[in-house]
Amino acid sequence: MWGGRFQGGSSDIMSEINVSIGFDKRLATQDIKGSKAHVRMLAAQGVVSDADAEAICRGLEQILAEIEAGTFEFQTDLEDIHMNVESRLSEIIGQPAGRLHTARSRNDQVATDFRLWLRDEIDAVLPAIKDLQLALIDQAERAADFVMPGFTHLQNAQPITFGHHLMAYVEMFERDRDRFRDCRRRLNESPLGAAALAGTPYPINREQTAKELGFDRPAANSMDAVASRDFALEFLGAASIHAMHLSRLADEIVLWMSAQFRFIKLSDAFTTGSSIMPQKRNPDAAELVRAKIGRIAGAFQSLLIMMKGLPLTYSKDMQEDKEPVFQAVDALMLSIAAMSGMAKDLVPQKENMLAAAKLGFTTATDLADWLVQNHGKPFREAHHIAGSLVSEAEAKGCGLEDLPLETMRAVAPEINESIYKVLSVEASAAARKSYGGTAPERVRQAVATARSRLLAEEA
Ligand code: ARG
Repeated sequence: MWGGRFQGGSSDIMSEINVSIGFDKRLATQDIKGSKAHVRMLAAQGVVSDADAEAICRGLEQILAEIEAGTFEFQTDLEDIHMNVESRLSEIIGQPAGRLHTARSRNDQVATDFRLWLRDEIDAVLPAIKDLQLALIDQAERAADFVMPGFTHLQNAQPITFGHHLMAYVEMFERDRDRFRDCRRRLNESPLGAAALAGTPYPINREQTAKELGFDRPAANSMDAVASRDFALEFLGAASIHAMHLSRLADEIVLWMSAQFRFIKLSDAFTTGSSIMPQKRNPDAAELVRAKIGRIAGAFQSLLIMMKGLPLTYSKDMQEDKEPVFQAVDALMLSIAAMSGMAKDLVPQKENMLAAAKLGFTTATDLADWLVQNHGKPFREAHHIAGSLVSEAEAKGCGLEDLPLETMRAVAPEINESIYKVLSVEASAAARKSYGGTAPERVRQAVATARSRLLAEEA
């Protein structure tokens, strides 16, 4: 394809390091779509004849059919997807195939293909995350009043509801989707027609190709169009953040499954056994989701470092942009699917959660708040009194709610019988009715709001 000035062949090592068809064949559909848009535009502009353009389009359609049928022979000596397609095109239609690459370069071609491909992937990621959110919302609704311990420092802090805990992830995932949408919006400019780097002397119409390919507009600077990969970096940034969120939820699933917590059960569908310990049920899917962040954030690092310091415009370094993104997309899609599966499968263990919520004096803040609200104590002083009562309970080996009234009154004489109403974990959670709080009624509102927001979205 580029052999005009070359006499000797490439060394085997040269071919091996140069070839990209093994992975960039994943861009085949987008490559063909881009070529069809390009040649139709060339015909409309009178750069190629209608007859040639038609022959080219028909040939490209046949190639697409061959690829879809699995009969297309990808050849490593043809380097990449662009030359594999073009070479096959000339086998099918002969000489007019040579007109396709007019007013175009592989540089704007690959940038176009990659953007189109990533846009399709974002369009698949968004509903996948939404499905996960809806599964969490359903669970949250059922568990809106399942009281469990809320943690800070992984120490029992205050009673919360399981529904509230799950809804926290629904919020995170909503921002994640917004990051992907934002990335999609910025990547949606067409590099096609930038040619090698400088534009082209042919009277092309970049608006037309941009429009046909569903881009919002042509990229304004031909050099930027072929040299930039920040669209892919942004995607990997959004993917890394989402994978980090998934990894936190995955970790909680692992914890919740353990004998020390017993907050949830997962069925056989998302767990595995041990080859030696017959009693085991391991949360492998959750562990693997927890781990996938490594690849995804790693992909971000690889692309960022590969791009760093590259002079404008295209350098062959940039052929290394695709694999990390492909791998990240695969890992991400699988993680989201596995997480959705687990979110639907998990069964919260209400009684175990409740028992755990009662450990660790989780209503000590409620005791302090009671002193503030009923006796006008400054919060600091009330905090001190509650702290002393926690010590008493700890020494006696009982809960705060089990302390006799005399014991409490010895520390703070203003305490009376009604204190016991605020010391139960259920009362504590129910009292947190502030906007965004854990009270079951707030959780039910949050569920309703989030669900209707998601279901109102088209697609
Ligand atoms: N396979 C190449 C890539 O992925 C296509 C662009 C080649 N351009 C070039 N000037 N050699 O980047």
